[in-house]
Amino acid sequence: MSTTTTGSTSGKTPGAAPGTATHPESEYKPGPDGLLLEVEDLHVEFHTDDGVARAINGVNFDLRAGETLAILGESGSGKSVTAQAIMGILDMPPAKIPQGSIRYCGQDLLTMPEDKRRRTRGPEISMIFQDALSSLNPVFPVGWQIAEMFRKHRGMNKSDAQENAIRLMERVQIPAARQRVKAFPHQFSGGMRQRIMIAMSIALDPAVLIADEPTTALDVTVQAQIMNLLAELQEERQMGLILITHDLGVVADVADRIAVMYSGRIMERADVHDVYSNPAHPYTLGLLESIPRLDQKGQELAAIGGLPPNLLRLPSGCEFHPRCRFAQDICRRDRPELAEVAPGRLSACHFSKEVLHRG
Ligand SMILES: Nc1ncnc2c1ncn2[C@@H]1O[C@H](COP(=O)(O)OP(=O)(O)O)[C@@H](O)[C@H]1O
Ligand code: SF4
Ligand SMILES: [Mg+2]
Repeated sequence: MSTTTTGSTSGKTPGAAPGTATHPESEYKPGPDGLLLEVEDLHVEFHTDDGVARAINGVNFDLRAGETLAILGESGSGKSVTAQAIMGILDMPPAKIPQGSIRYCGQDLLTMPEDKRRRTRGPEISMIFQDALSSLNPVFPVGWQIAEMFRKHRGMNKSDAQENAIRLMERVQIPAARQRVKAFPHQFSGGMRQRIMIAMSIALDPAVLIADEPTTALDVTVQAQIMNLLAELQEERQMGLILITHDLGVVADVADRIAVMYSGRIMERADVHDVYSNPAHPYTLGLLESIPRLDQKGQELAAIGGLPPNLLRLPSGCEFHPRCRFAQDICRRDRPELAEVAPGRLSACHFSKEVLHRG
């Protein structure tokens, strides 16, 4: 799904200027190579009665048009908080962003006036949540909920908005969309509801789509269908897609790059194939070893022992050291920076090279 051209294959609304990933009316234009998003040294903390929970501790990544970045990590590693910080939907307080920047098409979302930032949500950056049922309004027909987006943001009249809603429902492969446009959320299966959420998330042609564990609540066959649909839409519209998951298995086929998160940091960032074939960080290695393999039925999984750290009291040195089988004295003392270990490969470990060439 990676692309070297950023605009000529754009599936945007007719009229979109070639070479742009943003929609035609957008005031934002991607940077060189279709650069859309740059997250730099992002920190997020939560001020709680028990103290300050340091949820995000210096996250860096970027995203280009037509690219899928998977953010992977165990529960509690800071994936959703990162997504919420990008979307600007963190409750502040208790959350605070003491440091860092999030630039969209060169403009820092964190310092932008709130009304300007609000207008980026939907038409520029959009998000799909894990739980489609609680994200849809139970008292309105699904078609109405999609059509409402066209009426509100595109100023369409009722019948045009409904026609567009039907077309979008058809695009996300909802069978008999025209007949079901007036049906309510509870009349759809979990997978169909997630398709409706996807339809809503792409209705305004966002340049960046963040999907936060979009298939976790679904059964395995439906998971694959939803992933395929997301991959298709991403390619067709040349969106920058951030795919958040705790499951390495689901992103192998759809991601271009992977950022592996632990304890609010990126521990490894690289091309998806490099990460799968030869990880450079012990945590990634542990995650890979814990994927069930069809040819190893019945064998015990080598899950990573121990638990993620308490964010109120992060371990000294490398945050992963209490669980790491490669840990040495230096790991308890010095915190490793995310650094290049091979061309295009970043890892935050004192022994990345040894892990990479472990043979
Ligand atoms: N409102 C909040 N108050 C305090 N801590 C929070 C809040 N929201 C998230 N956290 C903490 O931030 C950490 C990262 O959470 P999250 O990003 O949701 O993890 P995940 O990787 O599972 O998506 C977790 O330890 C979580 O408990
Ligand atoms: S720095 Fe040390 S403890 Fe941390 S992942 Fe590398 S080897 Fe393990
Ligand atoms: Mg989450």
